[in-house]
Amino acid sequence: MKLFDVYPLYDVTPTHAKDVYVYDEKGIEYLDFYGGHAVISIGHGHNHYKERLTKQLNYIGFYSNAVKNPLQQELANAIGEQSSCHNYQLFLCSSGAEANENALKLASFVTGKKRIIAFNHSFHGRTSAAVAATDNLAINAPLNLQQEVTFLPFNDEKLLEAEIKKGDVCAVIFEAIQGVGGLDEPSEKFIYTMDRLCKINNACLIADEVQAGFSRTGTFFSYQKYRIEPDIISMAKGMGNGFPIGGVLAHSSIKSKHGMLGTTFGGNHLACSASLAVLDVLKKEDLQEHAKELGDYFIEYAKNIPSVKKIKGRGLMLGLEFDFQVSTLRKELIYNQHIFTGGSSNKNLLRILPPLTVQKKHIDLFFQKLEKALKAINA
Ligand SMILES: Cc1ncc(COP(=O)(O)O)c(C=O)c1O
Repeated sequence: MKLFDVYPLYDVTPTHAKDVYVYDEKGIEYLDFYGGHAVISIGHGHNHYKERLTKQLNYIGFYSNAVKNPLQQELANAIGEQSSCHNYQLFLCSSGAEANENALKLASFVTGKKRIIAFNHSFHGRTSAAVAATDNLAINAPLNLQQEVTFLPFNDEKLLEAEIKKGDVCAVIFEAIQGVGGLDEPSEKFIYTMDRLCKINNACLIADEVQAGFSRTGTFFSYQKYRIEPDIISMAKGMGNGFPIGGVLAHSSIKSKHGMLGTTFGGNHLACSASLAVLDVLKKEDLQEHAKELGDYFIEYAKNIPSVKKIKGRGLMLGLEFDFQVSTLRKELIYNQHIFTGGSSNKNLLRILPPLTVQKKHIDLFFQKLEKALKAINA
């Protein structure tokens, strides 16, 4: 049987990985500055992660949500403690799109309304409402376009107010730092305006932390740079360090009802153990503070590279903007310099998403190789 061919692939086959390095079948070592798309938080093959998952697998790997699973409460407590989001309730699922799908559904249940406000260059996933709230027509099928979504630019407060005042908006969904869209951020003033307008117009503010959450940006959630309490927070990627897990935090003012949300796989024993192991390591190795420090180190270094026109992002969710398209540069980096990096819908932006365990020596090596790559492509 053939694979359904939907991914343009780089010609690399990883066979094993350790911390910030990935190795292919020929034994070539790659520096992982992509983290499997911001998924690897505590480093590949962390011993504590492997031990906790193996131990759990030897007890029980899965049972359905029809019975009690105390690991879910343990995870809720740990997320509450480490994020300081004590005033929330946790619903578990298995991916980022699923987290946003449930977040949007919840907003619609709570408000009794159905129009979504999302932002230009947003990415929220590929399922029904999540993909409709994603600013990319090419990945929306006619089926998805039945959803009512209005896309607005960041920072236009008047436009947001005019839309939300129409009274039919259930949710405003935003990324405090856009990932796939290319690392743009709404202004602080706009964040507070969104928060205020949602409150007075009975709409839910949804912070999509699928990519930025779990300490990547130097705060537990990226919106926590500001003093807001979103109604709903979605998370996934770094939460499981590669084990599929996602989640929704619903503010305590949102009342749950049996059957309102549900899933077969979400919150299973292995998934909870993976995320608990991630939280253990984030805390023990102080990776949130480390992400902030190493992000600052990266930014200082990048300022010395003349062809870098703009440095975007914070913590270890970063982007380097050039005045040319980076696809050739990314190929040179992967095939000849052996470094994984990311792209974005901004074709001139190189995305940097290393495991949070990355050290200064890896950043030094990255820049040495970047300079070689730039020379090789005559940039
Ligand atoms: C901000 C954001 N939201 C949602 C998603 C979708 O997550 P998943 O691919 O796990 O469905 C992504 C994936 O890149 C993302 O970056």
